[in-house]
Amino acid sequence: MTEPDGKPFLYVVVCAAGIAADVGRLITAAQERDWEVGVIATPVAMNGFFDTAAVEARTGRRIRSAWRSPGDPRPFPPPDAVVVAPATFNTVNKWAAGLADTLAVATLCETYGLGVPVAALPCVADALAAHPAYQDSLIRLRAMGVRFSEPYSGEPGEDGARPEFGWERALDLLG
Ligand SMILES: Cc1cc2nc3c(=O)[nH]c(=O)nc-3n(C[C@H](O)[C@H](O)[C@H](O)COP(=O)(O)O)c2cc1C
Repeated sequence: MTEPDGKPFLYVVVCAAGIAADVGRLITAAQERDWEVGVIATPVAMNGFFDTAAVEARTGRRIRSAWRSPGDPRPFPPPDAVVVAPATFNTVNKWAAGLADTLAVATLCETYGLGVPVAALPCVADALAAHPAYQDSLIRLRAMGVRFSEPYSGEPGEDGARPEFGWERALDLLG
């Protein structure tokens, strides 16, 4: 929901991939494009995959990872758009299957019914991406309207350098 200051609200869902250490780049880019940002991380991602204190300082909000207690107010307004970056093999498959066992996946599952734009930046090794379940998940989520970036394996190229992870691509995909 658009914030009182007039800014639309973006959920950034962070999964437990090594590249998550750089998620601050996405948050900064989103803020520069005038999004208000709230971060929802998987429980595994909260366990050392990124600098949670820096992200909270940058967004001015606590990171959400667990459900609120009944009776507590909703910490974030409803989203105007959602980005999941990085998206892991695990979370992509659970999302497609509707297995809402973390707040992060439950939030992604809800986006379909909310009808808000959703962009996903998977970071999945080629060996895992070859699994038929993963390919089926991509087909299902695309059919639900999810906008995916190009595949990114996180593996070094022929020159030994790791390619750039296109953080800002997520924002471009939102349209
Ligand atoms: C250092 C490290 C890096 C990882 N990087 C990736 C990755 O790039 N992509 C991926 O799908 N899983 C990766 N994993 C495995 C996930 O962390 C694991 O599947 C986890 O259960 C994912 O949980 P989540 O989807 O709830 O965040 C990595 C694990 C470790 C320890």
